[in-house]
Amino acid sequence: MNDRVYIFDTTLRDGEQSPGASMNFVEKIRMARQLERLQVDVIEAGFPIASEGDFESVKEIAKQIRTVSIAGLCRANDNDIDKAWEALKYAEKPRIHTFIATSDIHLKYKLKKTRDEVLENAVKAVRRAKSYCNDVEFSCEDASRSDIGFLCQIVEAAIAEGATVINIPDTVGYAVPHEYGAIIRLLMERVPNIGKAILSVHCHDDLGLAVANSLSGVINGARQIECTINGIGERAGNASLEEIAMAIRTRAEALKVSTNINTEEIYKSSKMLVSLTGMHIQRNKAIVGENAFAHEAGIHQDGMLKNPLTYEIMTPASVGIKHSTLVLGKHSGRHALKQRYEELGYKLTTEELEKAYVLFSKLADEKKQVFDDDLVAILQDEISSLEETYKIETLQVTSGINIVPTATVGLKKGDQFLQDSSTGDGPVDAAYRAIGRITNIKTDLLDYSIKSVSWGQDAIGEVFVKIAIDGYVFNGRSASTDVITGSVKAYVNAINHAISARFRKEQSTNENVGV
Ligand code: KIV
Ligand code: ZN
Repeated sequence: MNDRVYIFDTTLRDGEQSPGASMNFVEKIRMARQLERLQVDVIEAGFPIASEGDFESVKEIAKQIRTVSIAGLCRANDNDIDKAWEALKYAEKPRIHTFIATSDIHLKYKLKKTRDEVLENAVKAVRRAKSYCNDVEFSCEDASRSDIGFLCQIVEAAIAEGATVINIPDTVGYAVPHEYGAIIRLLMERVPNIGKAILSVHCHDDLGLAVANSLSGVINGARQIECTINGIGERAGNASLEEIAMAIRTRAEALKVSTNINTEEIYKSSKMLVSLTGMHIQRNKAIVGENAFAHEAGIHQDGMLKNPLTYEIMTPASVGIKHSTLVLGKHSGRHALKQRYEELGYKLTTEELEKAYVLFSKLADEKKQVFDDDLVAILQDEISSLEETYKIETLQVTSGINIVPTATVGLKKGDQFLQDSSTGDGPVDAAYRAIGRITNIKTDLLDYSIKSVSWGQDAIGEVFVKIAIDGYVFNGRSASTDVITGSVKAYVNAINHAISARFRKEQSTNENVGV
């Protein structure tokens, strides 16, 4: 059997639909580009019928990403499939991914359909999808709790209709590895036309077994794994891509398969996702956690010094963690900065380098040491292609004990300078209220977090805010050595995202009506 395992990344679909992980249009495109550099085989870019935003981003990713297959999810009905194709038709390698539940629990309580009806639905859905494109994936939702006889029957019918990939989700994260592996093995043994399709695994992590179950599926014949960066996803998440890729690479002799993942892009992908969503990962997370390669115990350190093989099963470099922590100082020039960014995997244009250099020099003046993480933070904060409607010009806050926190904010909008003041529950709240008075935009603050991205008292703090405007959610982020300034910049960034999204929407509505 072929020993190549295809990696199907669903960070932008199953991952993005989980609470706290939403990304806007521009952020999804950035993440998709990074997934392409990571060399995943398939990017599931979204669920086109779910919202206009999802539709637009699947369409744009389909247009821009040419080397990877682009999948769009749809339920097993004509409307969903047609909508998915409308977005996917621009892709170099499009894949329609259609699904219907197959477990009796879902049939009885959710779908209120008989097995025969579900079978007929599935066959029709694959047929319709196949009329649009050759690559069609069919998923049996809640497969791990489905009757194995019915599962074999529906899988055989979907393949007969032309499905190229059959996905067997452990939707509720209920399976244990030997049991899940057995389902895959039985399908391999009992479905007569199974050789015409690739079997895929899609495991959720409710019992912390998603990666183990996925690997068990592979041992028993599956050749596609569906997973997400940092394991984000519904509830406890999906199988984590980095753990899967590194398990397969590190234990190649035990698993006897390989992937095409460029593992040196793993760390950067993980960091990018954290910075785009504000969803931080635990320090001891396998592969990408801060402590994943830190050896603290004396005995371990001693062993590592004598020979890294004693305690290190894979190197930090293999996942893209560079170990030069101290980078540049205030006397470093543009050339050194450019080279350092290249080592970190960022190729800057002349214009971006110029902007980065100005910010770097400012930071180097404020901080004694500038670390790699600081450089990445300023890059992600400042050098984005976002059209900035509002720019912060001035900020003054007063706060303390037994005084009312007050902020005065000055924003630039085009040539206008707009200034207002407000009191609040704290200095950040006061500043946000002042911005509300200037912009006249009413927001609900859904999430706010600050995290230090490097070390020391003068470390850069990365601020992340999530706001809702008229029911639509927008993220904003910023990096600064001053937490109040960072908080205000992140908030203005979220407002600029909202304004730019509205502008894009108006533009696309105009395109639709041919204006
Ligand atoms: O978990 C699941 O069952 C899914 C399917 C829609 C593939 O995400
Ligand atoms: Zn799922």
